[in-house]
Amino acid sequence: CSIRENAESKIYNRLDTLYAKGRQRKAQGGSKLLLGVLGCMAERVKDDLIANHHADIVCGPDSYLSLPDLIAQAELGHKAIDVDLSTTETYRDVIPQRIGDNRISGFVSIMRGCNNFCHYCIVPYTRGRERSRDVESILREVHDLSDRGFKEVTLLGQNVNSYGKNLEEPMTFAQLLREVNKIEGLKRIRFMTSHPKDLSEELIDAMRDCEKVCLHLHLPLQSGSSRILKLMNRRYTKEQYLDLVDRIRAKVPDVSLTTDIIVGFPGETEEDFLETMDVVRKVRYDSAFTFQYSRRTGTPAAAMEDQIPVDVVKDRFDRLLAEVQEISREVTARHTHTVQEVLVESINEQDPSLVTGRMSNNTLVHFKGDASLIGTLQNVYLDECRGFYYMGTPVENN
Ligand code: 5AD
Ligand code: SF4
Repeated sequence: CSIRENAESKIYNRLDTLYAKGRQRKAQGGSKLLLGVLGCMAERVKDDLIANHHADIVCGPDSYLSLPDLIAQAELGHKAIDVDLSTTETYRDVIPQRIGDNRISGFVSIMRGCNNFCHYCIVPYTRGRERSRDVESILREVHDLSDRGFKEVTLLGQNVNSYGKNLEEPMTFAQLLREVNKIEGLKRIRFMTSHPKDLSEELIDAMRDCEKVCLHLHLPLQSGSSRILKLMNRRYTKEQYLDLVDRIRAKVPDVSLTTDIIVGFPGETEEDFLETMDVVRKVRYDSAFTFQYSRRTGTPAAAMEDQIPVDVVKDRFDRLLAEVQEISREVTARHTHTVQEVLVESINEQDPSLVTGRMSNNTLVHFKGDASLIGTLQNVYLDECRGFYYMGTPVENN
């Protein structure tokens, strides 16, 4: 991942470690270790990975089909690089092996790339332009998952609300949801990420109407200050965002809202930051991912004057995190002493007499049960909320 500097630093460190291991292995008479970097970071850093960070293979996100060639070149001792971005590649024919999945819940990619060019964000440069996968191949993959016993899918894209615009036969994301909702055997549908500027009334209606669509919406705010939102190129204001939240809550009562927030965007003043705190207090998110602004070379924000000093960013970040966590604790606990439907995912890792599952809004619940419950929906009375999860007791299913 290239989205923040931290993620890339980890990869540089890992390359150093692996390179040292490879040399050791060679010195002991072993075969040569080939090092490859794949994905967004390969796209962003390109041949510098080969020149300065020991990589033998550099393969961008759209070049996976050339991997056999790249590996063959590298085995012959050449450095191999392919970072061409495609305007059509949607990975439609790639069937994931899903080795690590819990076999209950699976991710399905419905589009790639992004056209939004938020001014802090590297994604449009590393992933290229937005393209939607065709409906038939999405439905086929979801059917296939359902046939294999999966009960839940999460439809993934950088901006799912603009799904389908560039298809031969254009289709909206709301229409796609209604199609997926018809698939028998499937019990739950999640999706992310939604850009607030593209979230239509039609989608809110689909969330309300489709019984399998979960009561959870991830709606990145980024900043609560209209002035900063403009500088970020987010194309909505604080008031429009709050109005959208009201409209969603009016039609989908009790929906859980989660978000992403960046603090320390260039030019952010204390007043701007307090606007963000104000939105956090008004919306009362179930949870929020908070980030310190990371300067990504090549994005418009990286060239802006008035980058915020680290200590100021850190101070705002700490205050925001404290607020978000306090609200989250209160909001998460709102279902205490109610009965909720839980999709059981696994045996509890700490205590094998318990099973672990999720409520529709994604909150974890642990309760007494055995492996026969995995993959079923159970009604559970929520006895106690412990921070971010519940302990519950199963009740008779109707
Ligand atoms: N610095 C900090 N956070 C960022 N994000 C994207 N780009 C940056 C950046 N340069 C965050 C946004 C986005 C999430 C996935 O990562 O909040 O929603
Ligand atoms: Fe980045 Fe904005 Fe696209 Fe999200 S919508 S991937 S933040 S450019």
